[in-house]
Amino acid sequence: MSTPVYIIARTAHTVADAEGSTVQLLLRTFSPTDAPTFRAYRADADTARYQSWDPSYYASDTTGPRSAAKFCHQQHMFGASVFRNTDYTALRGRWLQLAIDDDGHVGDVAVLVSPDGRQASVGATLAPGKTGRGYARAAVRMALDWLFAAVPVADARAHPTPNPNTTEEEKEQAAVDALDGVYVPGVAVHRAHALVDARNTASGNLFAKLGFRKEGTNVQASYYKGEWCDDDVYAILRTEWLEKKYPAVAQ
Ligand SMILES: CC(C)(COP(=O)(O)OP(=O)(O)OC[C@H]1O[C@@H](n2cnc3c(N)ncnc32)[C@H](O)[C@@H]1OP(=O)(O)O)[C@@H](O)C(=O)NCCC(=O)NCCS
Repeated sequence: MSTPVYIIARTAHTVADAEGSTVQLLLRTFSPTDAPTFRAYRADADTARYQSWDPSYYASDTTGPRSAAKFCHQQHMFGASVFRNTDYTALRGRWLQLAIDDDGHVGDVAVLVSPDGRQASVGATLAPGKTGRGYARAAVRMALDWLFAAVPVADARAHPTPNPNTTEEEKEQAAVDALDGVYVPGVAVHRAHALVDARNTASGNLFAKLGFRKEGTNVQASYYKGEWCDDDVYAILRTEWLEKKYPAVAQ
């Protein structure tokens, strides 16, 4: 039996470009078939510029034990082990990479839950041809809805009163539509933060626009690509996120 890919959240997203088309954006676990796209953006020097990985590594290695194919396979299996039984203790202390999917893999949101399960780190990467469309903002939003929710947020929202004349099929479809959002139980972390290379304006702006507070700068706290780098700390509390997005269910 093959290992399934799990959908964490879905949203109808209006692309922030001239066409303004609406797409179905998914946040889902990785699949082995994501390896070519994952490898392409990991090997891109501009995408890697303010990140911890070395692009030459992914450019040169397609089949080795630390290749993109191996990485995607491992993330696929890890994601399945976390979501099969929603075993969130498995999340603690290990980065989970979730794929951003617009009718195919376009990037990822990385999530690290702390060893005590109470806090999370987040980061996002988009393939170069997919930036500037609002995808990172929409995808990190979905990840935060999942990380902060104690129960699926969709369950806590008021559902419209069903029309007594609707058919069973229509009722089922309405229930699916009402679930537009998070599909799995939430992790209920207390705080989420992002460490952003201080030179990475795009990423800093992304988290600021999502309502994260810039709490300070860790000076020369990371050593990447042969130099010490300053990390800006952006953070938001669960209460702040829920109050901002879902005042009716904030607790
Ligand atoms: C940072 C990154 C994830 C943003 O992805 P994206 O999908 O293009 O971002 P969005 O379109 O959702 O933009 C959201 C906000 O981010 C900011 N932003 C995005 N790209 C920007 C850029 N090139 N310059 C300045 N701000 C930018 C803007 O404030 C934007 O909101 P606005 O359009 O209302 O002004 C993407 O540029 C990327 O993958 N960079 C390389 C990997 C990386 O460094 N990741 C950060 C790890 S923490």
